[in-house]
This record gives sequence, C-alpha cells and structure tokens, in this order.
Amino acid sequence: MSISIKTPEEIEGMRIAGRLGSEVLDYITPFVKVGVTTGELDRLCHEYMVKVQGTVPAPLNYAPPGYPPFPKAVCTSVNDVICHGIPGDKVLKDGDSVNIDVTVITKDGYHGDNSRMFLVGKPKLQARRLSEVTYECMWLGISKVKPGAHLGDIGHAIQQHAEKNGFSVVREFCGHGIGKVFHEEPQVLHYGHPGTGEELVPGMIFTIEPMINAGAREIKEMPDGWTIKTRDRSLSAQWEHMILVTETGYEVLTVSAGTPPPPAIVLAKDAVAA
Ligand code: MF3
Ligand code: CO
Ligand code: CO
Repeated sequence: MSISIKTPEEIEGMRIAGRLGSEVLDYITPFVKVGVTTGELDRLCHEYMVKVQGTVPAPLNYAPPGYPPFPKAVCTSVNDVICHGIPGDKVLKDGDSVNIDVTVITKDGYHGDNSRMFLVGKPKLQARRLSEVTYECMWLGISKVKPGAHLGDIGHAIQQHAEKNGFSVVREFCGHGIGKVFHEEPQVLHYGHPGTGEELVPGMIFTIEPMINAGAREIKEMPDGWTIKTRDRSLSAQWEHMILVTETGYEVLTVSAGTPPPPAIVLAKDAVAA
C-alpha cells in the first residue's frame, strides 16, 4: 500500500468537492444559534447538499469495520464530545461550543471533508481559547506542508502549540488521505517528531483535523458506537481542512466565501500560498 498521487483531473475534482463541502458550512452558519437542535442542523445540511448542491453526505450509512452505520448526514460534536457526535434532539444552549463536520460526495465521486467550530450565544472564555488555539494548531500544521517535508513535521507543530497552551492532543483519531475514497493512506497524526514519517510529494491530498482537549487527552467511547467524549469530561475542539501538496507548498481545497482567514500566528507570506 502507498499514498496515491492525484492526477490533474482528480485534483480539479477535489477542488470542486472541497468548495462544496465548505459551502455547506457557510450555509449552516446562521442557523447555529441558541435553541436549535443538532438534528435540525443535520436536516438543513442534508437538504442543502441533496437539493441545492446535488451532492450526497458521505457519513450517512458509513460503516467502517467494527462500526454500525452512521445514521445522519453530518457530525455534530458538542462541548466534551471530541468527534463523531450523532445529531439528534439535543438543544444548543448559551455558551455551548459545537463542531460541525461535513463531508460531501460530488456527482463525480470526489469527497470534500471539512469542519469548523461554532460558539453558541455568549462564548465562555475557555471555549473561545480552546477553539482559537485549535484553529492555530490546524494552520501551523498546514503551513508545514510542502514537497520534501515529512508528516511528522505537521504533527509536531500541532502538538507543540497545543501543549504550550496547556491543552492535550487526542491520539486515537487522525487526519487521512482522501479522494474518491473517504479515508485512505496516509494517516496524518496530530503529534510526532520532525523529519519522521512519510515524505510529502506533490499531488498528495489529505486532511489535517486536530482534536484538542482542554484537559487530559484520553477518550471515552459512547454506547451508540460512534460518539467519542473526553474521559475527564473536559471541553474538546476540532477544525478540519483538506490540503493538496503542490510543487511549492500547499493549497487548501476546502475554501469558499465564508472560510475563516488564516490566524495571525501563520505568517502572511505563508498564507499567500493558500
Ligand atoms: N468527517 C469525519 C472525518 O473527518 C469522518 C466522519 S465518519 C462518520 O474524517 F461516519 F462519523 F460521519
Ligand atoms: Co476527515
Ligand atoms: Co471530517
């Protein structure tokens, strides 16, 4: 097994998928308010994908080995939920933080996978700090991407920044290669050592999606077979982009009108490459 190098045609297909995935997050943003249920957010995203975009939600009925089919169109992970939260009758309340993770499949079969954090009502200080630091972690990882760099460079940059701020990096879930397949090689760990792991080559496409906990890094699996929480019930945050390795650096594929800009911590000269 090895990491696939995408053809120019595949890259163009993934640019379209990435934009559509990002546009679902743009669309749902004004609905993420006090009083809405996660099930309603799922219903709205699902309808937008199918009826407006002509895309299909990749999570719906997704069933990797050992997992029951995922029952909804998107993941909604609230407060101490790290990832894979199942939308339902949970009502968002003032001060909650929620990650919405969207993966579309385009008519040509390409996956567009990305997620953002939303702070509901008046944000609590710790939730805002955690979301901001996690966003910086994702971008510090992205800014390492260029031919000749190694996967470990990405993980190291993320881990350093998270731990410097007193937070911890979830180990059990990672970024992943993606294309016509939802999850493929490589695994993109959000911790590690510089110069280790696979060397990056132009045409690789993978996600960077750090999950950062305010407390300890350990996880707890819920009986629904999907939902992952922090073992100590501390807050968790996650951001996700899909990245292409270019000849000179990187291109963020999950980009649309509403994509938040890179954080100040990533140098402006780096951001131009996006
Ligand atoms: N979108 C998630 C990721 O970033 C995967 C969700 S799988 C699901 O890889 F089945 F839970 F939706
Ligand atoms: Co992903
Ligand atoms: Co995702």
